[in-house]
Amino acid sequence: MAKILVLGANGQVGTVLSEALRRRWGREEVLTSDLNAPRQQSGPHLLLDVRDEAGLRKVIEENGVRQIYHLAAILSARGEKDPLQTWKINMDGLLNVLESAVACHLERVFYPSSMAVFGPTTPREMTPQEASFIPATVYGISKYSGELWCNYYAGRYGLDVRSIRYPGIVGWQSPPGGGTTDYAVEIFHAALLHGKYTCFLKPDTRLPMMYMDDSIRATLELMDAPTEKIRHRTAYNLTAMSFTPEELAAEICRHLPGFHIEYKPDFRQAIADSWTASIDDGCAREEWGWRPDYDLAQMTADMIKQLNSNPDLLKG
Ligand code: NAD
Ligand code: SER
Repeated sequence: MAKILVLGANGQVGTVLSEALRRRWGREEVLTSDLNAPRQQSGPHLLLDVRDEAGLRKVIEENGVRQIYHLAAILSARGEKDPLQTWKINMDGLLNVLESAVACHLERVFYPSSMAVFGPTTPREMTPQEASFIPATVYGISKYSGELWCNYYAGRYGLDVRSIRYPGIVGWQSPPGGGTTDYAVEIFHAALLHGKYTCFLKPDTRLPMMYMDDSIRATLELMDAPTEKIRHRTAYNLTAMSFTPEELAAEICRHLPGFHIEYKPDFRQAIADSWTASIDDGCAREEWGWRPDYDLAQMTADMIKQLNSNPDLLKG
């Protein structure tokens, strides 16, 4: 297998996923791309806007790309600041990838969806794989529409496109890029640098979450799974844990006893309230064997250990 192209590789997930792919397939086999240069370059990287049809086609053909991981997107909180621009980037980017994948006969495409596809009509506890989804954000609308387009391309053209509805992702390696779950990363930096944090969500806002290591492993396991195992071509529900800001703060206090949290909810509270509290990921477990490794206590301990060992990554 050769040449993987990662789109939106400079982001929170792309930074870590690109490294994992390079460890596995070799530095030269994984081509990263984004609007800008990466903070640290560890292999071939090019500047590419995902909406650039001719540009994407040229990159695929000139480099013999066989698989695409399409991560480029505007996330939930940032997306509400310019809904139409968010729709254009998230949808035009995806349609460009799907069209190019069919035209260039790519082997496989990964498209990350999100728990943001859930909305006020969706069951809040143990959200099933299929239910009523009427997302309240432009980001959620674009991700749900994206899932439907992936399902369409799989059925109409036989494109092997695979997708996960990621919950909120928490990791130490890279900063988050404008989501509603960003508090769960910021809190660790603030705790270690200042001993206190002002949270933009209410203390009892329960959301599904996952440690970065689990998210990356899930992505690779889904992409490795034999084709006959993949029965869902929209996106798989996936989760590892659910917690509130209050519960996360209490867990951090077990490591940093003086840590203090305050709450000043802003517009992101309404976004979080439109999502669900826990997810049933039974289909991913049954069809391709998904199992998370990290719970809240294990994630918290590892975040603190890793950030203490890499103080240059701390952001205040
Ligand atoms: P991020 O915001 O950190 O990174 C997104 C990257 O896309 C950025 O580097 C940005 O420069 C790039 N980008 C934006 N517009 C672009 C364009 N027009 N052309 C090329 N690149 C462009 O996001 P992330 O957290 O790394 O998320 C990656 C993917 O995973 C996204 O599709 C997101 O919807 C999905 N996801 C993430 C989370 C999470 O908690 N991080 C949860 C659910 C789903
Ligand atoms: N973590 C993401 C966000 O908050 C969910 O897709 O936007």
